[in-house]
Amino acid sequence: MLKFVMYVSDACPKMLDDQEQMISDLIDIERTAKHRNSALNITGVLLVDNGHFIQLLEGYEAEVDELLASIKNDSRHSNVCVLMDEEVSARSFGDWNMDIFTLDIQPELKSSDLHRFRDCYLANEKPNAREVATWVRRLITHPEIRFQGAAAC
Ligand SMILES: Cc1cc2nc3c(=O)[nH]c(=O)nc-3n(C[C@H](O)[C@H](O)[C@H](O)COP(=O)(O)O)c2cc1C
Repeated sequence: MLKFVMYVSDACPKMLDDQEQMISDLIDIERTAKHRNSALNITGVLLVDNGHFIQLLEGYEAEVDELLASIKNDSRHSNVCVLMDEEVSARSFGDWNMDIFTLDIQPELKSSDLHRFRDCYLANEKPNAREVATWVRRLITHPEIRFQGAAAC
């Protein structure tokens, strides 16, 4: 079964307090993710916004669950909260191998788009995986969001 998972979490205090630590941890996460996710046939993206992570993962159930278990144990973040875990018929990020996007360089986009997203959940109108994927793809391909890659943070 192919599935789509989205979670949010908080970066650890060490990353929050030290920009260099944040960058080196992101570089490490991206390097590990690109290698391991490709081996597990998992696609997706990782967004970083003012100390919060939003990650979208898609792949086959056993592999996604195995990866998520590792990610949840990672001390570089806490309060991992899975917002979405559902079966999908096709990948939405088949062309993205866990690239990292830092959104806090664009406060305007962050405040409008991320707040709309949060409000969607608060209103209990949980969108389906396809809607979320469409929204995130629109966000990361927005002309004002230049592709980051951890190394370019
Ligand atoms: C926010 C965040 C996202 C991560 N995403 C991935 C990922 O997509 N793929 C991956 O292999 N590791 C990811 N990691 C790193 C894993 O938590 C873990 O360190 C790595 O997979 C090695 O796993 P292991 O320690 O069980 O061998 C992420 C870590 C954090 C903090």
